[in-house]
Amino acid sequence: MDWREFESTIARFREDIRRAIQDARSESDLQDIRVRCFGRQRGFLREQFKRMADLPPDLRPRAGQLLNELKEWLEREIADRQRRLQETHLEERLKQERIDWTLPGTPYWRGAVHPIQQVRQAIEDIFLEMGYAVVSGPEIETDYYNFGALNFPPDHPARDMWDTLYIHGEWLLRTHTSPVQIRVMQRYRPPIRVIVPGKVYRHDEPDATHAPVFHQIEGLVVDRGIRFSDLRGTLAYFLQRLFGPACKMRFRPSYFPFTEPSAEVDMSCLLCGGRGCGACKQSGWLEVLGAGMVHPNVLREVRIDPEVYSGFAFGLGIERLAMLMFRIPDIRLFLQGDVRFLEQFRVDTWAFRDDVTS
Ligand code: DAH
Repeated sequence: MDWREFESTIARFREDIRRAIQDARSESDLQDIRVRCFGRQRGFLREQFKRMADLPPDLRPRAGQLLNELKEWLEREIADRQRRLQETHLEERLKQERIDWTLPGTPYWRGAVHPIQQVRQAIEDIFLEMGYAVVSGPEIETDYYNFGALNFPPDHPARDMWDTLYIHGEWLLRTHTSPVQIRVMQRYRPPIRVIVPGKVYRHDEPDATHAPVFHQIEGLVVDRGIRFSDLRGTLAYFLQRLFGPACKMRFRPSYFPFTEPSAEVDMSCLLCGGRGCGACKQSGWLEVLGAGMVHPNVLREVRIDPEVYSGFAFGLGIERLAMLMFRIPDIRLFLQGDVRFLEQFRVDTWAFRDDVTS
């Protein structure tokens, strides 16, 4: 074999394979081409390297160089083609699988705000607007804060107004949020305007209107010249914001050791508008709050001079208000965590995937 024949075989192969690479439409076409070029048994390169032996020895180095160049060229061309094929493949897929951005997303359950917390937030919002601060205190209290400082005399029957859950010694679970009045007044000087949402505990037999744990919101205002009319105005405004302008209010005299005078506050029945129904026991009124003017002894206990300052306080049960607002017949439903119950009060709880990241 002479040089010319060797060279032209290579040139022909190069031309053939160039076209084959151009015509390749798939990865498997390219694989066939690779076998043709680099195959261990009958690959072109392998055969040509063998044929070098038929060349005169002085031409063999040039032949080797030529074959190595061919090898590199082949590798480059095949890799290029492969890249090109992958790109067009992607473009075609994108064309076929075009995304419809107008399709709705997949909604998923994001949970809901518990109805008690919804009512708590609504009440907080009203008082925040009026310049009150929202504060909290401990659920485990001492006898002093829960009773003594609030002007319950030792061994006074008023301590039995609620069945207290005692822990040991002085420690108990607070029966109301009123002890936080004392903590606030120990910490801050008047003017004071706070509301105190929180859990309270009572050793009651659970039934439709009693639960061993429930929520209250306490209110306390102390300043110079605070009068009973301020209490009335504040509560009337509050009830109308929460229940609508048609809501009426009335005060009945009552007794709490920490207020004097004390009152039980009723609002006109939500369900019958005051005409009388089962919910209000035909009276047209619903009891919703306890309230009064802060007792001078309570002010003295925290070294606030009752000759200079006066205040009012009130306390309400959130469950009771929520039961009225949502017409819930049994307080125990709030504690059971039954999704079928809770789902009925959901607001803004379905969301779409994209919300998670945004
Ligand atoms: N602490 C009372 C209770 O749990 C409610 C209450 C009544 C709070 C009168 C007050 C108040 O601040 O002035 O029944």
